[in-house]
Amino acid sequence: MSPTPQQRRENPEPREARNPVPVAVIALVSAMLGWAAGYLMAAHPNADASLGDQRTALHAAPAVAATDSAPAPADGAALYATHCVACHQASGAGLPGVFPPLSGSEWVLGDEDTLLQILLHGVSGQISVAGTTYQGSMPAFGERFSDEEIAALATHLRASWGNTAAAVDAAAAARARASTAGRSTPWAGGEELTARAP
Ligand code: HEC
Repeated sequence: MSPTPQQRRENPEPREARNPVPVAVIALVSAMLGWAAGYLMAAHPNADASLGDQRTALHAAPAVAATDSAPAPADGAALYATHCVACHQASGAGLPGVFPPLSGSEWVLGDEDTLLQILLHGVSGQISVAGTTYQGSMPAFGERFSDEEIAALATHLRASWGNTAAAVDAAAAARARASTAGRSTPWAGGEELTARAP
């Protein structure tokens, strides 16, 4: 029996069907997976531990607002608190086995130019401080600090935590800077610092 006109006019009964996933959803999920894979690959959770903690980046020069007034005289203690405390500690005692002490350090109390060179260029290699050998990485501050600031820092180190050594003036810092102006790498360690031509 053929369908009546009334039956033909009706829509067919709806059925469950396996509809394809919309392209937009596939695109969104793929984009998220791609982002996740990229994120994991960009992270370095297993970086070589011997590189040490990379706190150096934290010390990148903060943007300083320009002022027309004359710059305040460099404050060694304030510079120390901002740029050195994280590693050498407020006590100047460093962190055993990781960051060498500045209090009682022969590098701080000894030859003025050597101390300035350490601050200007940093050190990366073996250096013996107060009887212990360290193998770390000390950032360079030469590009960040003026001669006055380098001198103020050196003076602060030489007069704190029981240290007593002569103050360092900006002219000495300027001479130290000029004498190694071509240098762009940190000192390779205590040996190179001691052996360098004066
Ligand atoms: C990221 C950590 C870090 C920061 C920040 C840092 N140092 Fe160092 N410093 C070191 C390490 C590590 C050494 C030893 C380098 C080596 O083993 O080759 C060192 C060595 C030194 C030395 C020579 C060794 C000694 O103990 O006397 C002096 C002086 C020194 N730092 C002063 C400073 C001053 C001043 C500042 C701030 C302007 C500073 N450091 C900021 C890690 C740091």
